[in-house]
Amino acid sequence: MTRLETELHRRSQAHRAANRSTRENWHSFTRHRNRVMELLGDESRRQGKVAILGAGNCNDLDLVQLASECGEIHLFDLDREAMEDALLRQGVSERPNIRLRDDLDLSGLSDSEPGKVGKPAPDFDLVVSTCVVSQLLETVSRVLPPGLHRDRIMLQVRDAHVRLVTGLMAEGGTGIVVTDMAEADSDLDSSAPPEPASATELARKGSYFLGLDPKGIQQALGAVRNLQQSEPWIWQLDPIRRYLVQAVRFTKSAGG
Ligand SMILES: C[S@@+](CC[C@H](N)C(=O)[O-])C[C@H]1O[C@@H](n2cnc3c(N)ncnc32)[C@H](O)[C@@H]1O
Repeated sequence: MTRLETELHRRSQAHRAANRSTRENWHSFTRHRNRVMELLGDESRRQGKVAILGAGNCNDLDLVQLASECGEIHLFDLDREAMEDALLRQGVSERPNIRLRDDLDLSGLSDSEPGKVGKPAPDFDLVVSTCVVSQLLETVSRVLPPGLHRDRIMLQVRDAHVRLVTGLMAEGGTGIVVTDMAEADSDLDSSAPPEPASATELARKGSYFLGLDPKGIQQALGAVRNLQQSEPWIWQLDPIRRYLVQAVRFTKSAGG
């Protein structure tokens, strides 16, 4: 194993440990989950084929609702155990239309591009990336030493993930990229939506996590249609950690 492979293996173990530590946080995720489910919308998922990237513990998803409304749901994450446990906790282990996929590196950097033999086909009606970009960028920041080189690679990983999202989508399909873009100030009330001004203020102060500002995600998307940016909201991950979250939603253009 090269040093990089060893580090990446360590990071995947760290993701599994992080998932174990937040597994029981269904309750603190409630507002975040409601916002994610609202974004998924009714029309795009009805009877469609849906991909969730970074499903993990699925505390941000109502799987009972999705399993009744969608044709097929593919949950992607390196942590199969977290997803299996989520299906048990939400009582949907027997649903034939939920598939667990731990065969795709969500960094988009491996040779697992959509369309390759044995890899997911680009035919999803809805692809949702749920707070996974921050995890991919954190991996880079832990594996590489600080500096401009590292910053550039972080942006390349973000762009590769965004290409993976659009690459999985069918023409005319819907994509949603949800990002935990900054730490939420402890004085923001998580039971109420944060003022959009707080996101504007973040942009002014430049205090987004590197690569996670919605404008950067939008640039990475390139030619898509119906691009919409949601209002920001607060994700209460656990009693202490809380993040300001925002989503971009878009439609894949023909040939995009
Ligand atoms: C912040 S969690 C998403 C929250 C999750 N949906 C929940 O409700 O608990 C990000 C997920 O991305 C997964 N992940 C991180 N890097 C990955 C990679 N390169 N490939 C696949 N999954 C990855 C982690 O295992 C983790 O479950």
